[in-house]
Amino acid sequence: MSLKSLIKTYQQQVDSALDTWLPAANIQPPRLHEAMRYIVQGGGKRVRPMLVYLTGHALSVNSIMLDAPACAVELIHAYSLVHDDLPGMDDDDLRRGKPTCHKAFDEATAILVGDALQTLAFYVLSHDPHLQTSDKRRLEMIETLAHATGSRGMAGGQAIDMASVGQSLNIAELENMHIHKTGALIRASVKLGALTCSTIDDNQLNKLDHYAKCIGLAFQIQDDILDVESSTEMLGKRQGSDIAHHKVTYPALLGLRGAKQMAIELIEDAKTSLTDFDEKADPLRWMASYIVTRHY
Ligand code: IPE
Ligand code: IPE
Ligand code: MG
Ligand code: MG
Ligand code: MG
Repeated sequence: MSLKSLIKTYQQQVDSALDTWLPAANIQPPRLHEAMRYIVQGGGKRVRPMLVYLTGHALSVNSIMLDAPACAVELIHAYSLVHDDLPGMDDDDLRRGKPTCHKAFDEATAILVGDALQTLAFYVLSHDPHLQTSDKRRLEMIETLAHATGSRGMAGGQAIDMASVGQSLNIAELENMHIHKTGALIRASVKLGALTCSTIDDNQLNKLDHYAKCIGLAFQIQDDILDVESSTEMLGKRQGSDIAHHKVTYPALLGLRGAKQMAIELIEDAKTSLTDFDEKADPLRWMASYIVTRHY
């Protein structure tokens, strides 16, 4: 199967699995369920679920085992976007080319959508019968996702982001913020994919983890770059939002050229970490490049 059709197949697979797990919009309370579907089914690149599938692919895992972790990471991601856009955080009105959740619905609904998507992620991971793994391994997966998204992971990174508005961070502090707010979930996506493989060894896990750490940081650097260089139309979110909100970003600290160079070096590092993997890891290698060449 060509890379293009592989990606398309996995995108359809996660979309269909998400549709199964999301309560129908007419189930009580309908406004909440409608808003959850509005967000999760309203576009997005599906980078995190793709990392779950492509990691499993590299390790020859049956893809049906990967649906639960793929859904879980996308549900967490969708929740994080809804809360990130709230007036108390980035105060954005456009997401994926449509009004943000609190604009299309209201703030209370947006907060509850985030709450509900987050818990649904853990429900899926703990419940999906297709994830045929030991209870111990399943628990390890739940623990991985919980740690990556809590106060020492994504939520902690978002707290650093909010506290840094208008401040001057040094490069180490900025890296720490990005590694947590965006890198942690990307890293967890790869790890969850890897943990579905019952025969994975520590060396493979460490190599994949280093790959994920590098692309996770590069992903947010590229997001910062696109906020400067791209357009609102292309991004589906307001271009220039970081500057307008006095956010600390890589282009602000290193300049566009410095930020781009850093992203490229991280991708090289990520690919080097996959040297021991065979051609089944080629889609992961492609994904690393895509992260810094993408236009939205
Ligand atoms: C945007 O993530 C938020 C960040 C963590 C930078 P994506 O660029 O993956 O957003 P979607 O899912 O494609 O909309
Ligand atoms: C968002 O970072 C990180 C999380 C949602 C955890 P940004 O604030 O840069 O994301 P965008 O640019 O609004 O998508
Ligand atoms: Mg933000
Ligand atoms: Mg934002
Ligand atoms: Mg951004």
